[in-house]
Amino acid sequence: MSKPKFYLTTPIYYANSRPHVGSAYTTIVCDVIARYKRMCGYDVAYLTGTDEHGVNIERAAEKQGITPQQLVDKNEKIFRELWKLLGITNTEFIRTTEPRHARAVQNLVRRTLERDKALEPSQRAIYKKKYEGRYCIYDNLYVSDTPEPADCQICGRPGELVSEENYFFRLSAYQQKLLELYKNSPHFVHPNFRFNEVKSFVESGLKDISISRKSIKWGIPWPDDQEHVFYVWYDALTSYMSGIGFESEDPQKRAEYERFWPADIHAMGKEIIRFHAVYWPAFLMAAGIELPKQIIAHGWLLFEQEKMSKSKGNVAYPEPIVKAFDEITGAKVGNDALRYYLMRETVLGQDGNFSREALITRYNADLANGLGNLASRLLTMIEKYFDGRIPGLGESDEASIAGWAGVSEKTGNVLKAYDEFQFARAIEEIWRLITEIDQVITKLKPWKLYEDPADHPVLKSFLTVAAMILRVVLVLAYPVIPDATQRIWEQLGQPGKLAAIRMDQLNLGGLEQPGMRIGKPEGVFPRIDKKEALERIETMENEIRNPATAGKPGSTPADASTTTTKTPAEGASTGTSAAGAAAIPAGAPGAGTPVGGAAPAASGAGAAAVATAAGTATTVPAKIGIEDFAKVELRVGVVKSAEKVAGADKLLKVMVDIGDEVRQVLAGIATSYAPEELVGRKVVVVTNLAPRKMRGVESNGMLLAASAGPDGKAVLCTFAEEIPAGAKVK
Ligand code: MSP
Repeated sequence: MSKPKFYLTTPIYYANSRPHVGSAYTTIVCDVIARYKRMCGYDVAYLTGTDEHGVNIERAAEKQGITPQQLVDKNEKIFRELWKLLGITNTEFIRTTEPRHARAVQNLVRRTLERDKALEPSQRAIYKKKYEGRYCIYDNLYVSDTPEPADCQICGRPGELVSEENYFFRLSAYQQKLLELYKNSPHFVHPNFRFNEVKSFVESGLKDISISRKSIKWGIPWPDDQEHVFYVWYDALTSYMSGIGFESEDPQKRAEYERFWPADIHAMGKEIIRFHAVYWPAFLMAAGIELPKQIIAHGWLLFEQEKMSKSKGNVAYPEPIVKAFDEITGAKVGNDALRYYLMRETVLGQDGNFSREALITRYNADLANGLGNLASRLLTMIEKYFDGRIPGLGESDEASIAGWAGVSEKTGNVLKAYDEFQFARAIEEIWRLITEIDQVITKLKPWKLYEDPADHPVLKSFLTVAAMILRVVLVLAYPVIPDATQRIWEQLGQPGKLAAIRMDQLNLGGLEQPGMRIGKPEGVFPRIDKKEALERIETMENEIRNPATAGKPGSTPADASTTTTKTPAEGASTGTSAAGAAAIPAGAPGAGTPVGGAAPAASGAGAAAVATAAGTATTVPAKIGIEDFAKVELRVGVVKSAEKVAGADKLLKVMVDIGDEVRQVLAGIATSYAPEELVGRKVVVVTNLAPRKMRGVESNGMLLAASAGPDGKAVLCTFAEEIPAGAKVK
């Protein structure tokens, strides 16, 4: 009998920058589901990919002086490599710049236009109209459908004015149909509280949406109207079909589409649920195509209380974590460590905090001391006491031994938790089995039993049952930690791939016959030193952020709010380049005056910046040449928003418009300025500093200020005349 099918997707990731831990989170969630479903007997298609069109790709490429195609080619590779590093078992990968995708998008709209022909013009799903509204290019979201200024609800940046003739989709006509869908499919959106939000949104009335753009060039041309390109969501969502052969020229691929569509799960972060649970079903209804079965939305990974995102500069990257763990332990444990941490610490649907410290703690406690230690103890005892052969059940009461861990009940709970996407609960339940075996070891003291041959039957039974339970643990934990479970599986003498075991048919059996040979016991999760790991991770992160001036952890400037003063002169003379300049707390008595912000570039440009604004002749280098000063790029900035940085008395996080982008800069001016009084103020920004982190928040530049009075009050440099954001200061 052929296997039932299961098709799941991640969102396709914007290819304007490299993935961070937040992007990895969605992909790992889907990978856990995919592995679990395979172990329940499904033939799983798992699609991920990259979203490569749109204005923010165009802009990012322009900034880097390369073409959009070059940019997406570069980033797509990084995504693929990361998924390999994280053991992601996707079966498909789609890029929206592939011809097969363009063909699918154009044909999807053609199908709709064809159906529209039978309708009155006022009923047609797609029509042309002038659009005017505000749009956030960072979050790809309409901020408002009127031309008045409006800020983005997600990132707070001002929306851009868009005014042009577009193709529209008559979403308003789908309100009733969508509500019926929600009624007939009570699990269409998971978790339920998100479903309620979607329902209320639809109940409150739907507006038609624009699905094409004239102003953007980097996109898929509208069929038979080359002036327009598809607007991002119509293009992006169709990847779920193009990725598995919709409208493919290859008959085999078309058959794949026939087999796997509709999707069983589209998984994503909470911010894009509306596009998936409202727009997407409506687009499909209009084209007469079957709808996906379920949309699941997870929360955000927060870093310092904020959504981790590249545009905010507060990102952690997965590669340094995985590689640092692997390098330090000399074993392949980093991937499991990251996956375990993310699945254990978050409740799907809720936001969760990301912390490298907590990750290392979890690894040491649950993986090294927990599963790793148990496996190594059991296997070593089998090796030592029974010559590396599982002893088999002895004469003692088997039922009561098997009963101590309540294995079958716990197995049922784990499966239920996986089915409900409650990964943390599944893990907790699995780890209960580990704890219970540990407790029985403490109680029984097997080494004592070994001393008296009369106790050997009990010892045999205990070790056999414990090994059986360990086997169950490995099967259950495999979707989350695939690397180490496979290795322990082999050490336990189990044949073949653990992935091939049917989790839904799992029982305690498999090892009861005496004599099964185990492999060589080897520790799978060596303990890791927190300090060393943090330093290694930070060094690698700096290399990613700043490949040219890759810094050592020690060169990261201290938080301006807490550091002790180090004069620029000291910084320069001790060979720490100009990093000392950034370490000067704004407002510290006698300090140099560039405030907050990132460490200057290693070239020494920072020293020049200090000299420019300083006025503290005693501490700056005597004289610098014009060529040194020319290294510093200064621009007029307009403050868009400012807020305090949690846990830092003197730091403000300032979003400042420097003409072609909005930068996040940390400034140590919180004791001199209230955040609200800064909004709209013109400031001088050092724009070519290497990014640096303070309190886990990235700073991409520096604000210039004078230092006044005995308390060193910071007074920001500003302009008396009108001057636009982005103008050069020289
Ligand atoms: N390209 C669109 C999706 C189109 S799907 C047809 C997009 N891309 S994205 O790169 O911005 O986000 C992709 C996924 O990464 C989303 O599920 C998003 O929620 C997730 N994450 C990005 N940052 C995240 C966190 N900080 N935390 C958790 N997930 C996050 O949206």
